[in-house]
Amino acid sequence: MALLDVKNVTIEYKTEKGTLKAVDDVSFSLALGESVGLVGESGCGKTTLAKSIMRLLAKNGSISTGEMIFKGQDLVKKSDEEIRQLRLNEIAMVSQSAMNGLNPVYTVGDQLIEGILSHAKMTKKEAYNRSVEVFKMVGLEEKRLKSYPHQMSGGMKQRAIIAMALTLNPSLIIADEPTTALDVVVQDRILQQIVDIQKKINSSMILITHDISVVSETCESIIVMYGGKIMEKAYTKEFFTKPIHPYSLGLNNAFPSIHEIGEELISIPGAPPNLMEEQYGCRFKDRCPFKATLCETTEPVLEEVQPGHFSACHYNDQVEEFRAASKKRETWDAVRDRLIEEMRRDIS
Ligand SMILES: Nc1ncnc2c1ncn2[C@@H]1O[C@H](COP(=O)(O)OP(=O)(O)O)[C@@H](O)[C@H]1O
Ligand SMILES: [Mg+2]
Repeated sequence: MALLDVKNVTIEYKTEKGTLKAVDDVSFSLALGESVGLVGESGCGKTTLAKSIMRLLAKNGSISTGEMIFKGQDLVKKSDEEIRQLRLNEIAMVSQSAMNGLNPVYTVGDQLIEGILSHAKMTKKEAYNRSVEVFKMVGLEEKRLKSYPHQMSGGMKQRAIIAMALTLNPSLIIADEPTTALDVVVQDRILQQIVDIQKKINSSMILITHDISVVSETCESIIVMYGGKIMEKAYTKEFFTKPIHPYSLGLNNAFPSIHEIGEELISIPGAPPNLMEEQYGCRFKDRCPFKATLCETTEPVLEEVQPGHFSACHYNDQVEEFRAASKKRETWDAVRDRLIEEMRRDIS
């Protein structure tokens, strides 16, 4: 049974220069206890999608179409107060910036207890005990409850934030680049902790990251977003052995830890599309080594290529060939040359 069913969701921001479609007709579902990695470069709509679930979009942002069915009820139709009650109890979010949201004048423990009391029916004593428990889960000693934020390292603060998010055993954890601000060793440890706790309390998780290698170790499935759309969706194991979409092939080259030692890093030339502009054809076409005429004119749909493995490319059937070519530097160099050539033409 699905815990969360996101159906045809489109999210727009109103700006002075016009409307920006940050998420465009996105659908996916998350099973009870499942963890999914949501990946893609910066600006692809990941945070927007995550925040919309919690009703935490910036004021100029709104869900223009679609449904988000959570435990059988459409979150989109719920009032702000109803959503507030779901936060922490049912859905919790850990984000990169949450750390900076800790109040400097209160101890971390007071903030944690305050959070618990405002969302759950517990006595102060029970809330304290629960705080000790979750602090232990994330590897913080009880005495740390008495610390002020400035007395803790970045890693400790982020652990405290995770503890806060997990105190009420939410059914869904949304972690948006939860460790990006920390150093690599600490990152790994904290991520592992989040996953351990997620498994222990049997909640589902959406883990957002720009680094796909993180997903290979932590999530059962993966969703690749690009330019506000889902490009590929698969079980993690399948994805890392047999990626299909050319964008995924490019991402795979760009992140080292899932590669054989010695294999070179190749980044995808160019940048994601400007979502202020109307999109034509495939959103990845400008950076795709395998671009054909059809890609210019027609938007590919997300197609089930293998059971449970979806890709939005017109040429899913040529994946073997693409996979081989994508390993070669020349393939991406050609894209770079093409982009430079197009830029020259535009200027002159
Ligand atoms: N409050 C906002 N107003 C206007 N545009 C925004 C706002 N927040 C995000 N965007 C734009 O929405 C797009 C998606 O951003 P975001 O969801 O943050 O992507 P990601 O998390 O994948 O980096 C980007 O083009 C970004 O500039
Ligand atoms: Mg983001």
